[in-house]
Amino acid sequence: MTEQTRRTFVKQAALGTAAVLAFPPATVLGANDRVRVGMIGVGDRGSDLLEQVLKVPNVELVAMADVYSRRREDAKKKVPAIQTFSDHRRLLDMKDLDGVIVASPLHIHARHFLDTLAAGKDLYSEKTMTWSIPEADKCLAAANSSGRVVQIGLQAQSGGARVDATQWIKDGWVGKVTHVESWLSRNTQHGHGQWVRPVPSDCTAQNVDWDAFLNGRPNRPFDPFRLINWRLFWEFSGGNCAENLVHQIAWIMSVLDLPAPSAAYMSGGVFSEKDGREVPDTIAVTLDFPEDKNIVVTWQSTFSNRHYGLGDRVLGSDGTIEHHLEESAVYWPEKTNRPSGADTKGQTKDQNHMANWIDCIRSRKPPNAPAEIGHRSAMAVHMANLSYKLKKRITLEEAKAYTPEY
Ligand SMILES: NC(=O)c1ccc[n+]([C@@H]2O[C@H](COP(=O)([O-])OP(=O)(O)OC[C@H]3O[C@@H](n4cnc5c(N)ncnc54)[C@H](O)[C@@H]3O)[C@@H](O)[C@H]2O)c1
Repeated sequence: MTEQTRRTFVKQAALGTAAVLAFPPATVLGANDRVRVGMIGVGDRGSDLLEQVLKVPNVELVAMADVYSRRREDAKKKVPAIQTFSDHRRLLDMKDLDGVIVASPLHIHARHFLDTLAAGKDLYSEKTMTWSIPEADKCLAAANSSGRVVQIGLQAQSGGARVDATQWIKDGWVGKVTHVESWLSRNTQHGHGQWVRPVPSDCTAQNVDWDAFLNGRPNRPFDPFRLINWRLFWEFSGGNCAENLVHQIAWIMSVLDLPAPSAAYMSGGVFSEKDGREVPDTIAVTLDFPEDKNIVVTWQSTFSNRHYGLGDRVLGSDGTIEHHLEESAVYWPEKTNRPSGADTKGQTKDQNHMANWIDCIRSRKPPNAPAEIGHRSAMAVHMANLSYKLKKRITLEEAKAYTPEY
């Protein structure tokens, strides 16, 4: 018996039977079930995820890949023994890696997603799952046939609020839900557009693999502003729908068991800071769902006023659920239809989303935010953006038939 099959055998024996496993075993769990992890794209979010994964017991962060030398040096400062690569494929060649965390810019997610699964590794991929609908379909199909544990970085899926809200809806506390209103409000300092980051002085053509960043986008000379501020440009980004609507719609879809929208409409524009960005900073989205659901979801977002913060309100005939990111859900009954109902605050504790992925690498159970919710939420994001770009209401069928343009 090879060392790997022995470990697999011991693991399956410990779990009782292989039949209880949702996924085939991890590739190479180390001694004492130590999980060996690599990362692709360790910029702003990647640095947070690096700290998060280091805090999960019995995990070893062994490698990272990033096209920008500064990111590799920063990672070495935090984890001196880490192996660093410019090309993510060299990281994926490593035989002794169990899982890979991807936190690259949106337009490269699908590439990193597919390459990671093809290399037989479990995957944690940041949201939005992909830049386009065809990519989302490809990634979902790959995830489903891979037997790998895939967690999408939709951390509200691990929140206690999701568990409580789902239960309240299932128990009939909310009655018939016809509308969910959700919103995200931020303010921006005058003269400094939301998301704009300074370009470090060492961000030069010598220190960056620009072609790897472009990932097949039309070629052009090295542009450090676009490398650092990719979020502002459609070619690389999905704007604020991909950055924030995605978290909220994934939560709404999972508590109400909603499929992809049947149609989307999005209006808005670059109204806060006209700083050359392409993606809108002021947004109103309307999402319709198939007829049997009789429900409309609205999402409104501004970067010019933060007074109302961020939240979701599930409006039902028998009650209301309000949810603010990273807070417990709260419930209020509609006294006309549910006179016996009482105001309730959710009690379920949040799970650590990263630790949930690591646990699932060991247990082979489905994680809290699998590719399926990654795909559904990505559909809503892409349909909304498509509607904005085409300046018309767009149906699911039209969105699926559309060939994305850069
Ligand atoms: N879940 C959350 O709450 C959350 C929060 C923030 C960001 N995000 C997501 O994280 C992702 C990254 O966002 P960010 O703000 O960290 O961006 P960033 O630009 O700070 O980091 C991206 C990193 O990827 C590197 N990179 C670019 N091309 C690469 C390639 N081909 N191979 C390897 N590395 C490459 C860049 O050099 C950079 O270091 C985005 O998808 C974003 O939506 C998620």
